[in-house]
Amino acid sequence: MSTLSALTTNQDLDPIALRQAFGVFPTGVVAVAAVVDGRPVGLAASSFTSVSLDPPLVSFSIARTSKTWPDLRRATHVGVTILAEHHGDVCRQLAGEPDERFDGIAVSVSGDGALTLDEGLARFDCTIYREVEAGDHVIVLLQLHAAEHAAGQPLVFHRSGFGRLAG
Ligand SMILES: Cc1cc2nc3c(=O)[nH]c(=O)nc-3n(C[C@H](O)[C@H](O)[C@H](O)COP(=O)(O)O)c2cc1C
Repeated sequence: MSTLSALTTNQDLDPIALRQAFGVFPTGVVAVAAVVDGRPVGLAASSFTSVSLDPPLVSFSIARTSKTWPDLRRATHVGVTILAEHHGDVCRQLAGEPDERFDGIAVSVSGDGALTLDEGLARFDCTIYREVEAGDHVIVLLQLHAAEHAAGQPLVFHRSGFGRLAG
């Protein structure tokens, strides 16, 4: 195991070094998606986290440069799907060419337009509770209206790559 020496204050934090340091922290990955104006819109996000039980809230952070968020935030309801360990390619697709993100992926759409992946480990039906500006991202708080989960293992995102839980 490597050890770290004492931190020196660094006012000029390099974004590349920061991204690498943040990437040490393992996360799952979710798909955040809805049908808007008759077409599926959404993206992959590793910034998902649970926030509150009462009211039931989760959050994710979206880059202010996102071309998808201005459309997705207009959705009546938004679906969140926690990706399963076999979803590495699906995750790349969900972060890729916007018009092809859902090609060949089995999805379900609620009456309110929330879009979820049929093979996800868990899925949530949400509405936007609050958006909080946070630097070059916006923290989006989502209120849950339905939740279900299945057995299985999650996709793990770590050090810019995909992995799975051991054991
Ligand atoms: C594993 C993974 C995790 C990602 N997590 C986030 C995230 O938390 N927030 C975000 O804004 N973009 C994230 N992205 C990038 C988006 O999926 C998407 O590529 C980006 O928003 C650009 O597309 P857009 O302009 O259509 O939004 C992630 C991409 C990958 C592959």
